[in-house]
Amino acid sequence: MNIPSTTKQPFVAGEVALVGAGPGDPDLLTLQAFRMISQGDVIIYDRLVSKEIMALVPQDAELVYVGKKQAEHRVPQDGINQLLVDHAKSGKRVVRLKGGDPFVFGRGGEEAQFLLKNDVACHIVPGMTAASACTSYAGIPLTHRNISRSCTFITGHVQEDGELDIPWNALSDEKQTVVFYMGVKTLPTIIEQLEKAGRSDQTPAALIRKGTRPDQEVYKGTLHSLNDLVKIHDIKPPTLIVIGEVVNVFDEKQLTNIGYVSTSTQ
Ligand SMILES: C[S@@+](CC[C@H](N)C(=O)[O-])C[C@H]1O[C@@H](n2cnc3c(N)ncnc32)[C@H](O)[C@@H]1O
Repeated sequence: MNIPSTTKQPFVAGEVALVGAGPGDPDLLTLQAFRMISQGDVIIYDRLVSKEIMALVPQDAELVYVGKKQAEHRVPQDGINQLLVDHAKSGKRVVRLKGGDPFVFGRGGEEAQFLLKNDVACHIVPGMTAASACTSYAGIPLTHRNISRSCTFITGHVQEDGELDIPWNALSDEKQTVVFYMGVKTLPTIIEQLEKAGRSDQTPAALIRKGTRPDQEVYKGTLHSLNDLVKIHDIKPPTLIVIGEVVNVFDEKQLTNIGYVSTSTQ
């Protein structure tokens, strides 16, 4: 493959590249991401990086998985930060490969801060974030004239002892699309609070699981039926929750440019 030349800074030994791998389909990897991955001596990667993308890493690169340990505990963030610094200081070109975009719910900012604090140069390579790519593959436009004038990406993840700290009233506009990342566990609270804030329980809503991957699943319903859809289809992460009228703009079977055929239920 001929990759266009670039005037960007070269990736040299002793540096780290925080690279966004997108949500799974290797076709969505940017040329810049591919170029950086191809030069990596060490690839430190997450559980959300698809096996098709891992197949693109250099055969002689050292692979370090920091998704989950045997005991199902992830490598703590402090440990990942230190790993990046240690590998860079040993003179390697280190690729920190992350699902989606490193700066969208990916803790890429924290990693970059730690690297800079430790005098390690750091490249940031954006990736396609799940909300953008997965909705496209599910035939859902994030905005649509007269139907949705804004779009909010929001995390449904709570800290261990915390509550969901979300300004619910700011999500009440019926012409706003809301996309929750990491929201499966807290979905009952999300639904309750959105309804309290004024969203109709008949607001169209969708679950997109393993978006852009060959086994992508898409389930459409309403705010009211989302909990049932999760139970019926045994929905687990990685899943996006999309709420808003845009969910019903298309029947995705009408669109021919979607990567994969997916399951869909009203
Ligand atoms: C820790 S966040 C990482 C987000 C990532 N940095 C991005 O920009 O897409 C993980 C969450 O992203 C969403 N996600 C990532 N990849 C996905 C996919 N292929 N399909 C559906 N949701 C996905 C899910 O909500 C998942 O729980």
